Amino acid sequence: MRKIDLLSIEFGKPLPADLFDSEGNLLLPKGHVVGHTDLRKSRNQITNGVFTRDDDADQFGNEPAPTDESDDHSSGGEKGHRGPDSKPRLKALFSQEIVGEEVGSAAETHLASTLRLDALLDQDKGHARKRPASPNYRRLGLSCLRAEAEHAAEHFGHAVDEISNVLHDVERGKSPSLSTSGEMIEQFASSVSRDPSLGPLTAAISSDDCDYLVRHGLTTSLHLMTVVSQMDYSPEEVVQAGIGAMFQDIGMIRVPRSIRLAPRALSGAERRTVERHPIYSVDMLDKTGLASPLTLMMGYQAHERCDQSGYPRRQQRDGIHPLARILAVIDVYSAVTSDRPHRKGIPPYDGILLLLEEAQAGRLDGEAVRLFLNSVSLFPLGSYVELSSGSYARVLRSNWGNHTMPVVVMLDQEGQESDVEVDLSKEDEARVVRTIDKKEVRKFCEKKKLESELAEIRAWSG
Ligand SMILES: [Fe+2]
Repeated sequence: MRKIDLLSIEFGKPLPADLFDSEGNLLLPKGHVVGHTDLRKSRNQITNGVFTRDDDADQFGNEPAPTDESDDHSSGGEKGHRGPDSKPRLKALFSQEIVGEEVGSAAETHLASTLRLDALLDQDKGHARKRPASPNYRRLGLSCLRAEAEHAAEHFGHAVDEISNVLHDVERGKSPSLSTSGEMIEQFASSVSRDPSLGPLTAAISSDDCDYLVRHGLTTSLHLMTVVSQMDYSPEEVVQAGIGAMFQDIGMIRVPRSIRLAPRALSGAERRTVERHPIYSVDMLDKTGLASPLTLMMGYQAHERCDQSGYPRRQQRDGIHPLARILAVIDVYSAVTSDRPHRKGIPPYDGILLLLEEAQAGRLDGEAVRLFLNSVSLFPLGSYVELSSGSYARVLRSNWGNHTMPVVVMLDQEGQESDVEVDLSKEDEARVVRTIDKKEVRKFCEKKKLESELAEIRAWSG
């Protein structure tokens, strides 16, 4: 019998061979499609690990244990290379993938964490949230909003430094310290509770060209807390979800840089390595002892999809925590609108269209997309638009339930924003006709300026 790596069991797929417990009792037969409940049902039987017959071990991507007697070069081919140094090489291979962790212990820890998360899922299903999401109509005056947004952008810069340090520590094998970053997330949460526009606006104006993992973590955290603060969750839960979004990808640190930063499409094996990062995130955060189950759930389920095409558990919609369904939406939006080593980000408006398509295709949750849309609008906060009047404006606030008519501030020909908010849902004429990017705003202002200077000269020359 050969002990196999729990992480190599693929959920939603037929088992390639029989699985046994440490006593040799049959746990699950070959061909059985492993479901989420199987883990729960057999939790007492698999504490000493899961086993399969020696000859079947490689079906789970586990090379049969190189025992001295099997170390003969006669078998040729790739395996031929398993000479006397194969043991350390195999060990190196595994440890390279799971930095600083013994394969076995990671699996056991992972098992414990996910069982606790499963329990939270069940509990949460039982307590259907009473009050549906409702808009937080708190509004800061325009000058206060601008001052707070600037302050939040500064705070964003400090948070980038703090989180970068945490990730560097983790890369050096240290356990992440959540305390300081937790306080930073709390500050963001309190600013979002003062005015929900602050979340998306801060995410849009912060221009730090920092590590993608840091930036992605912070912007998704800001967006998620903005949405959750308008749902039936306590301020503590808003922060826990925010920390969960912030560190959802900390497990990516265990994915080799050569794969994580590859400027090309990944191979099947590389993709499977990447698909382990939610489990690594749960392990790493759980070990800090500071992460609540709700925090762990965010990274654990951000890549699950409502049509079971996600990972790591191929969950159905009901098996995905409601806040993780929202984080999945925000994660996709932030990822596709950000510049990456191998491609440029798409415009915010196109990012929203992509979310609607993913919801239509049943992969993302329609209700979650709607909640996100209510907080960022079809023309995302902080982005620029051209109105039917020909003037340019910047989107400042969303209008709950009215995604095409946000609140804007007009731009003058110098590109300066006016101090008057215009709620397009209350305007008869003015409508958004198209989105424009920042660069075009500059060109527009120059053109307008030239036009007025020309008009002046013509008027003078009669
Ligand atoms: Fe992720």
